[in-house]
Amino acid sequence: MKNIIISILLNLWAWASLAQVLESPNRQLKLSFQLNAAGEPTYQVDFKQKTVIKSSKLGIEIKNQPSLSQGFSLVKIDTSSFDQTWAPVWGEVKNIRNQYKELAVTLQQSDNRRLIIRFRVYDEGLGFRYEFPEQANLKHFIVSNEKTEFNLTGDHKTFWIPGDYDTNEYTYTTSKLSEINAEISQKFTEIGTKTIFSPNAVQTPLLMKTAEGLYINLHEAALVNYSAMQLMLDKTNLSFSAHLVPDAVGNKAYLIAPCHTPWRTVIVSDKAANILANKMILNLNEPSKIQNTAWIKPQKMVGVWWEMHVGKSTWDYAGTQSGETYFANKPHGRHGATTENVKRYIDFAAKHQIEGVLVEGWNVGWEDWFGQWKEEVFDFLTPYPDFNFSELTQYAQSKGVKLVMHHETSGSVTNYERRIDEAIKLMKQNGYEAVKTGYVGKIIPRGEHHDGQWMVNHYNRVAEKLAQNQIMLDAHEPVRPTGLHRTYPNWLACEAARGNEFNAWSSGNPPEHETILPFTRLMGGPMDYTPGIFQIKMNHYDVRKKEQVHTTLTKQLALYVTMYSPLQMAADLIENYEQKLDAFQFIKDVAVDWDDTKILEAEPGDYLTIARKAKNKEEWYLGAITDENARNSMIKLDFLNPKQTYVATIYADAKDAHWEKNPMAYQIQTVLVNQKTALRLNLVAGGGTAISLKPASAEDLKKWKNYK
Ligand code: NOJ
Ligand code: CA
Repeated sequence: MKNIIISILLNLWAWASLAQVLESPNRQLKLSFQLNAAGEPTYQVDFKQKTVIKSSKLGIEIKNQPSLSQGFSLVKIDTSSFDQTWAPVWGEVKNIRNQYKELAVTLQQSDNRRLIIRFRVYDEGLGFRYEFPEQANLKHFIVSNEKTEFNLTGDHKTFWIPGDYDTNEYTYTTSKLSEINAEISQKFTEIGTKTIFSPNAVQTPLLMKTAEGLYINLHEAALVNYSAMQLMLDKTNLSFSAHLVPDAVGNKAYLIAPCHTPWRTVIVSDKAANILANKMILNLNEPSKIQNTAWIKPQKMVGVWWEMHVGKSTWDYAGTQSGETYFANKPHGRHGATTENVKRYIDFAAKHQIEGVLVEGWNVGWEDWFGQWKEEVFDFLTPYPDFNFSELTQYAQSKGVKLVMHHETSGSVTNYERRIDEAIKLMKQNGYEAVKTGYVGKIIPRGEHHDGQWMVNHYNRVAEKLAQNQIMLDAHEPVRPTGLHRTYPNWLACEAARGNEFNAWSSGNPPEHETILPFTRLMGGPMDYTPGIFQIKMNHYDVRKKEQVHTTLTKQLALYVTMYSPLQMAADLIENYEQKLDAFQFIKDVAVDWDDTKILEAEPGDYLTIARKAKNKEEWYLGAITDENARNSMIKLDFLNPKQTYVATIYADAKDAHWEKNPMAYQIQTVLVNQKTALRLNLVAGGGTAISLKPASAEDLKKWKNYK
């Protein structure tokens, strides 16, 4: 009897202290979970027999309570597997397979407090989160710190932006981990409020590349009722630990059990293309909460917008404002959102089958909207006297075009929350189906940050409220996305990174910028980057001198394919498009919703080539971009339907084009291609190629020559 008991006890001990190993469905990725001698939860990640994350600690610190990170015993282990395919409302592919193995460990401390850590292991990554089940000793609580660690195996090459609580509108620095120094990063945001709390902190999605050529992406999925996770580097140990964005009094999150944190995600591959093709972050989000999704429409828009950024016109009406320091050197009082001007845009959109017209500066409040930190700024209802609201509603309707609403909150979120119901009513009454929101400047309630729990809840609340009212959302300056567009597919896009607009009025975005964003910011969801600027040099406009877009013209076209979003703006002035309607044809044609996506070539910081098949059409669109280096490559069109000949319209850099010296020189070639064709792409420095591939008609077959 005694022997039996001893053997049971020994077995139990072995069970509790042995690592729990879980392999991904194809067995390439391996998670090991273990409680160490101090009862601290630890995990390790291996990919193809190589360690990616060395044994790293897990845990949560609770304010005024013992830490939930040590003294645990393992009381329960649950494993399961899952394999389901689902169809997103819109996306880069028609169907997404969600296949993983799951391990949930229930841990208990001596005071009976319980914590569950749930892991989902995919072939190319894993997600894990903390769950707080209902229990007597842990009800309402405050998270004071998250102890999640990511212990790295070397001094990896890293693409990073500083850990700023209020903005992600930075250019990326590429350096070794040990060289990260957020404070000396001079490439600061040039806008809004900087809140950098430590030189060693960076933001996610973070991309690293190891010396052996493994790509590792760290981020999070389903950020709900929690603050954003930044990463704090321990340079001695080359280890990141989670750093949560605090609130006004320094707390990280207020929770009520039962509840859980967002998923922490580690995506890993030896192929850069696989990082981009990965759908793990979407899979870790909840399915759509919207039942009827027929009203959700991926779309393109033009807008009264870039003309303000280049200083041709202004948001404000009277032009007597004192506080408008947003864009230095900008003239005042040339109101852009006039009835007449908006009609011009509506006419253009109708003529070229562009669905939407965004109008910024339509409403009273822009006189001193920025940098004042004042509570009452906009009411989201009152138009300027020269913007005839009802006339424009009718005019847009008569032309079959949708006006897109603009709600700049200037960070006064209390004000927006008070007024949003009335604002939605106005939209519903006037046929507005989409809104672009904005959160420029410091947040009110004062002391809150853009990326803290309070604001995270605000963004999610707005998406939910808009969904209830069948309105689509494009949020500027929100927390960076974490795949919540699966749950709220009306949330078409976010900015949450340094967009094309910086090229209008700042040092701009270097040519490599757009080759990094897909590996970082876009991992969480679509970006409203606002591509399509044809007038590259800003000295074209009165008030601009040296600013310019840091790409060639055809690279701007390629961005419609490489920078995925179901909402794409044709961002330039319509008069610039009218000068170059042959190139504008690509923007007209390119799809915004896809059946399939092929990442053909990819290297973060260097180049990216993507081909996508338009939703429910036999058409493909290809975009290829490069950084500041010219690049030649051969692209096999073996993804095309073998039974079909296609007309390829190739929008390429002219031979002597160059992003800085000659950015607007392009050539357009039309040829016949098929599945066996290999295309030569010649990208100049900062250049790009965009290609549309459409089934050839009998007439096309006669008219065009085969590609040689
Ligand atoms: C910043 C946004 O990114 C930009 O698109 C907008 O025009 C301005 N704020 C004004 O709201
Ligand atoms: Ca912005």
